[in-house]
Amino acid sequence: MSEKKIATTAVRAGINSDQHHGAVVPALHLSSTYALKGFNEKRQFDYSRTGNPTRATFAQAIADLEQGALGIVTSTGMSAVHLICQLLSTEDTIVIPHDCYGGSFRLFTHLAKRGQFNLLVVDQNDQQALSQALATKPKLVLVETPSNPLLRLVDIAAIAEQAHQAGALVAVDNTFLSPVLQQPLLLGADIVFHSTTKYINGHSDVVGGVLVTKEQSLGEELAWWANCIGITGSAFDSYLALRGLKTLPIRMKQHQINADAVAKFLQQHSAVEQVYFPGLAEHPQHALAKTQQCDFGAMMSFEIKGGVDAVKVLFDKVELFTLAQSLGGVESLISHPSTMTHAGMEIEAQLEAGITQSLVRLSVGIEDIEDILADLSQALEASQQ
Ligand SMILES: Cc1ncc(COP(=O)(O)O)c(C=O)c1O
Repeated sequence: MSEKKIATTAVRAGINSDQHHGAVVPALHLSSTYALKGFNEKRQFDYSRTGNPTRATFAQAIADLEQGALGIVTSTGMSAVHLICQLLSTEDTIVIPHDCYGGSFRLFTHLAKRGQFNLLVVDQNDQQALSQALATKPKLVLVETPSNPLLRLVDIAAIAEQAHQAGALVAVDNTFLSPVLQQPLLLGADIVFHSTTKYINGHSDVVGGVLVTKEQSLGEELAWWANCIGITGSAFDSYLALRGLKTLPIRMKQHQINADAVAKFLQQHSAVEQVYFPGLAEHPQHALAKTQQCDFGAMMSFEIKGGVDAVKVLFDKVELFTLAQSLGGVESLISHPSTMTHAGMEIEAQLEAGITQSLVRLSVGIEDIEDILADLSQALEASQQ
């Protein structure tokens, strides 16, 4: 059979894999342990922290979508980020972006303070700063593109080429786009990871993570650590996330139709100072988005006129948008990065990254676009009175 399209791979993940009963949908295996056949005669699975059939099906599905060698399912997105840190010894250096997810920033800065590795925080679009960082021969370069919350892009192919020349591995946080819209391993990255809490599960009822490696050996090293430190994902979460994954391609289509309309609406609104969305022709990296992404995603942020007072009224007035952390679910969410998702960053670091008090982030859901726009319209209007 010819190579399948991504929607087919997502829907067919694990289907017809039950040899015993012929169950169409892969089963949920909750057993924590598995009987050996006899003395020192293990089956494929022996203990669910190490391996679990439901988790393995989900891991394989993501590895297939990312076109990598091996997938590792972790308990949260943050434990996937933490797992990457296991590749670093005390003398190693990691380069991270100055505007990554606040939780990742907090983890890296606090582990570095305890001497677990050397850390360089750089604006990866500042070529001079990046070259200086790479000249220190780091072990790892972490990339988040588009970034949370400002939707800045990093050219994955270009950074991978430079990082590899310097002897570094490249790990890309692909949470904002999912493998349906961006496949970093095909652009030269060595590791791609996700908070599956977001688009992959898509229904805001699982907290989870996943990592996929291009090379089998690197995947095995990380899988060894995931078992060793005990951060593998649960069977139940894997089951739900696999179910969510099946509709990921179709959900992304609707998310993007809605996001495109919202971005254009915000762009012309008098209450809005600036919109950050790579799908807009005015976005400074619109051309890059068109080449390395299949589409533009459904995350965006904007600066509202009137500062934090206007933000407060906006949040008070929205009815359809829910004021909540997280993103990527079918429902529309609104948040204030400075006091919510990026509160783990010191205010100075926030400002350095461009996160102001008037910045509002939207995760555009798949409700009817007329309702979404009507809600934003009335709340924005109220924010300016
Ligand atoms: C881009 C990004 N990476 C990683 C994470 C961490 O994921 P989790 O909350 O599942 O631990 C998040 C969470 O918001 C995120 O937005």
